Amino acid sequence: MRIGILNGGDSSERSVSLKSGECIAKAVELLGYEAIKIDPRHIDVTLQGFFNLDRIFIALHGGIGESGHIQALCDMLKIPYTGSGLLASSTSLNKHKTKEIWKANGLNTAEWITVNKNTPSDAIKETLSKLSYPVVVKPLNQGCSLGVTKADNPQDLFSALTAAFEYDEEVIVEAFIQGREYTCAILDGQALPVVQIKSETFFDWNAKFGNETATYHCPSDLTPEQEQQMQAIALKAYQVLGCRGWGRIDTFLDEDGEIYLIEMNTVPGMTTRSVFPMAAKQAGISFEGVIEKLLSSATF
Ligand code: DAL
Ligand code: MG
Repeated sequence: MRIGILNGGDSSERSVSLKSGECIAKAVELLGYEAIKIDPRHIDVTLQGFFNLDRIFIALHGGIGESGHIQALCDMLKIPYTGSGLLASSTSLNKHKTKEIWKANGLNTAEWITVNKNTPSDAIKETLSKLSYPVVVKPLNQGCSLGVTKADNPQDLFSALTAAFEYDEEVIVEAFIQGREYTCAILDGQALPVVQIKSETFFDWNAKFGNETATYHCPSDLTPEQEQQMQAIALKAYQVLGCRGWGRIDTFLDEDGEIYLIEMNTVPGMTTRSVFPMAAKQAGISFEGVIEKLLSSATF
């Protein structure tokens, strides 16, 4: 089987995607398939490469690779691809839409306000004057915490908004949940063991990929009951967005034991430092096992 691995791309998560692609390509070869790495940045190569492929593994994070655009192209070319389809991808990349859908389905998510760059600044100020701090400011359609900042007061908020607007015209200002941070991977309609994230500093791009101060723990410190509850909520969060194949849901557990959904990732990182393979390993599924499952459930 010839497997096209889409990686790289032009989003700000390009470097992470290239690392995911590298690990996935190795696994595809270990499974005995032909791995053809394709970077959509070189569109001619992509289009030519598409025609002889049996399957496409989408390892693009953010941008057109996670927003439904590439998924729509694969649908049109009738090549089975891994992960969510067009609608679930585009909804899940949009933090505002994701939270609206979760809320409408009775799922708990941190309260938020969405701000558009083109809204007159007086109107923005009026909306934001009602906030209680701290808050977290995030570009609407980004991954890997790029452009994400915690703001403890109105002065911090101004620079946080400026940083987030570098990445997107719309940003969300979300209530900061005081508590512990977790993430739950879903594979083949099953929630994998929950991974706990510990970070001495705010868990942003730097903690994830820069100075790497964040550490990941699986099994987590949750009780079996809390673990089951978090898995059930994560699975529902995935299902109501219409996701398929795989995904990873980031959550918080506050000091009162309340679970908050934070965001949906439809193309989870698959680098050597990523949490998805860690959770799979805890469930007895190897890296190659994850890739094999995703290739067999690939569809268009
Ligand atoms: N967006 C990154 C790659 C993740 O969620 O793993
Ligand atoms: Mg994300």
